[in-house]
Amino acid sequence: MADLDDIRDGKEYGIGVSQKTEGYFLKGSGNLDWGMKDRLSRIFNPTTGKTVMLAFDHGFLMGPTSGVERIDLSIVPLIEHADCLMCTRGVLRSLIPTTSRKPVCLRADAGTTILTEMNDNVVLDPVDAVRLNASAIAVMVAIGDPNMEAKTVANLYNAVDDGLEFGLPVMGVTAVGKDMARDARYFGMAARVCAENGANIVKTYYTEGFEKVVACCPVPIVIAGGKKLPELEALELAYNAIQSGASGVDMGRNVFQSESPAAMIRAVSAVVHQGMTAKDAFQLFNDEKGPSTVRVI
Ligand code: R5P
Repeated sequence: MADLDDIRDGKEYGIGVSQKTEGYFLKGSGNLDWGMKDRLSRIFNPTTGKTVMLAFDHGFLMGPTSGVERIDLSIVPLIEHADCLMCTRGVLRSLIPTTSRKPVCLRADAGTTILTEMNDNVVLDPVDAVRLNASAIAVMVAIGDPNMEAKTVANLYNAVDDGLEFGLPVMGVTAVGKDMARDARYFGMAARVCAENGANIVKTYYTEGFEKVVACCPVPIVIAGGKKLPELEALELAYNAIQSGASGVDMGRNVFQSESPAAMIRAVSAVVHQGMTAKDAFQLFNDEKGPSTVRVI
């Protein structure tokens, strides 16, 4: 119990000074509860409103694809440059230092791999996400897939119910099926369906006309990088997405499969947070990557 001696009456009441009522910087998130906003503020930089998520959850469906064979060697050194880590619980527990102090967007659905029918997934128990101190959970949604659409939309809205219970934001991840047109109409619809079902963040892909995808999605959008591109093209992709209104990137292969992953994530970060042009960011990449090393076999 507090010491009861010398209890002083309050006197600094600021009478006549209105209490500051802070708005919230993130699109569509103003009505969320404190815990949700606190977690979103860890993922998105409140000064720029943007994020660079480093995605390395690929192993859960692809196995040890190039760049994530040894996460301790390839990914851990990049953590300091990322705003948020996107990975599975297995990799988080086994390989990511607990002293990283980075928010985690936990890959929260699983069940299929590239060897089977994709996206026939179930969602993990949100209590484990809380146990891991995740700042968000990510759930795949396969809009337009006749076999998986209903199941994955149900996964999303169930995850949103869990998220509301525990104060955990949910990121809806739009899958791209083989038969889907990769255009603004499709991504605009998929993003909107995620938001309508309660997703707090949507991850989708950049395409021409992306400003329409962003405009009709009431919550922040981040873009996946997709397959490995030459660095300048990947930076152009990020630049175009940010200029079209994206709130950041959730990029994997274009970072960890780069010839210089650390230089690449720093260049991407300059595009995202400083609005640096792709050309200038490519220069930054070249300056930071240092001289090319030639492997002598
Ligand atoms: C997709 O479902 C994976 O979960 C990746 O997180 C996502 O595609 C981002 O990685 P990348 O930039 O390599 O496409």
